[in-house]
Amino acid sequence: MKEKHSGGLRILLTGRDGQVGRELSRTLSKLGEVTATGRDELDLTSDYAIGDMVHEVRPQLIVNAAAYTAVDKAESEPDFAHRINAEGVATLASAAKSVGAAVIHYSTDYVFDGSKETPYVETDRPHPLSVYGKSKLDGEKALAAAGIPYLILRTSWVYGGEGKNFLLTILRLAMERHELHVVNDQIGAPTWSRDLAKATASIAEKWHHDKFATAKSGVYHIAAAGKTSWFGFAEEAIRLRSASAAAQGEKFARLVPIPSSDYPTPAERPKNSQLDCAKLAREFDCSLPEWKTSLAAVMRALK
Ligand SMILES: NC(=O)c1ccc[n+]([C@@H]2O[C@H](COP(=O)([O-])OP(=O)(O)OC[C@H]3O[C@@H](n4cnc5c(N)ncnc54)[C@H](OP(=O)(O)O)[C@@H]3O)[C@@H](O)[C@H]2O)c1
Repeated sequence: MKEKHSGGLRILLTGRDGQVGRELSRTLSKLGEVTATGRDELDLTSDYAIGDMVHEVRPQLIVNAAAYTAVDKAESEPDFAHRINAEGVATLASAAKSVGAAVIHYSTDYVFDGSKETPYVETDRPHPLSVYGKSKLDGEKALAAAGIPYLILRTSWVYGGEGKNFLLTILRLAMERHELHVVNDQIGAPTWSRDLAKATASIAEKWHHDKFATAKSGVYHIAAAGKTSWFGFAEEAIRLRSASAAAQGEKFARLVPIPSSDYPTPAERPKNSQLDCAKLAREFDCSLPEWKTSLAAVMRALK
């Protein structure tokens, strides 16, 4: 799928059908010609597919929004998660190098163990608790070692009005059940996929203006402003939904806060997922809105 904008950047986007990729297809098209690929056209487990696509498009910039994101499932298929999130990224980076492209890539708060009390900065030592977190960290390392201009955008708790995410799951369950137990001892910032995609386009534009300066290469934290728990996120979403005209007469589940220890999952999550985003503000003059502001916008758009 190609979106043309004459005279601009030639961009190859992966993960077109994901939460972030879908939004990026729109925001990046303002910068130039975007070739937006899904798994069918560019499978990150296929070195041939990656090489062929990169040499056909010859992008100046690759934005990699494709990833293995099934955090719990990854515990039982670590090789597959690693194949996509680490080896796939290494192959993509080496293909980028062969055509002189820069790369923007996403990573996650799950590279940290959450034991820090305050928000994580980019120089904090990663220590993933899960297979998914480890595979994403290995992907970061592969990209950083490739010898190309790159930006790694670490984000957290991505949601939106479409796709598979916590918000849509909670809203559905809240209609089906009388009571919902939600974890309240993991703290982070729910980040709207659209905010992330708009910010990525702005970052890409500024970086292109700087001729993809390698001085800017590195890891950046990017998440909504503010913080909450999964419980706080669910509570605010249901409060907004109950107050909306669309929900008149509907009954919603009572929310009960619980500790993570009462909700065991195959993958362990960090207790503290807060990301300090000051570096991004400093280097790219970019920051995301408060999580509650964006959640209200998403909720207004939901039918
Ligand atoms: N979701 C979060 O809470 C979160 C938090 C922090 C960081 N991130 C990072 O943000 C980025 C975007 O995440 P997202 O929320 O948009 O994820 P998503 O909705 O799960 O989308 C990921 C996309 O990658 C595609 N994909 C999976 N395996 C692939 C492969 N082998 N080859 C090509 N494409 C493949 C998926 O295709 P299919 O549709 O065919 O499966 C899907 O369209 C990822 O790097 C993720 O690690 C996400």
